[in-house]
Amino acid sequence: MPQRFTVRPFQLRDLPRILQIEVASFGADAYDRNLFAEYARISPRLFLVAAPSSGKPRRVCGYSISLVLPKGDRAELVSLALDPAFLGSGAADSLMRSTLRRFRLRRVSRLTLTVKISNLRALRFYQKYGFRKLRRAPAYYEDGADGILMSLAL
Ligand SMILES: CC(C)(COP(=O)(O)OP(=O)(O)OC[C@H]1O[C@@H](n2cnc3c(N)ncnc32)[C@H](O)[C@@H]1OP(=O)(O)O)[C@@H](O)C(=O)NCCC(=O)NCCS
Repeated sequence: MPQRFTVRPFQLRDLPRILQIEVASFGADAYDRNLFAEYARISPRLFLVAAPSSGKPRRVCGYSISLVLPKGDRAELVSLALDPAFLGSGAADSLMRSTLRRFRLRRVSRLTLTVKISNLRALRFYQKYGFRKLRRAPAYYEDGADGILMSLAL
């Protein structure tokens, strides 16, 4: 039977676990503690974590952060990552479905994100949800890599 995941808003006590997941996922590009605390402050209802619904351990295995932009009908998916042991588990789907549901309830009409051009797995994941490639964002990342701006109409 496929594993099930519970999605809930981030709490400050999740921070050490989120930092572990972040470093395992992004290495040198990892966000730091202060940035996560800042996202928790400015977007508390859209900083979400996922954990297995049953079995042990039930600790957090992934997170997503999104923001509603000032115009109100647009939003940005800032980051999404899983503990590498949970890749392909469905945890990212639970986070994405919960994020999209929250945006539809708030009548957000468009969600954008930027993904590293070399991150084929994430690109594929977003395309599965209907995100379309809009354009290249040259040297978007600190290491000089290009990003791809993607967009989803809700
Ligand atoms: C992005 C992420 C959250 C997606 O979660 P996931 O569990 O890997 O997603 P899924 O396995 O459901 O989907 C990934 C898709 O890529 C495919 N895939 C797997 N490995 C791949 C690879 N090396 N190259 C291309 N596609 C790949 C999978 O088959 C799947 O496609 P399918 O559903 O059509 O078969 C996860 O990969 C992750 O945490 N990556 C590290 C952090 C990251 O890069 N975050 C995104 C920042 S923008």
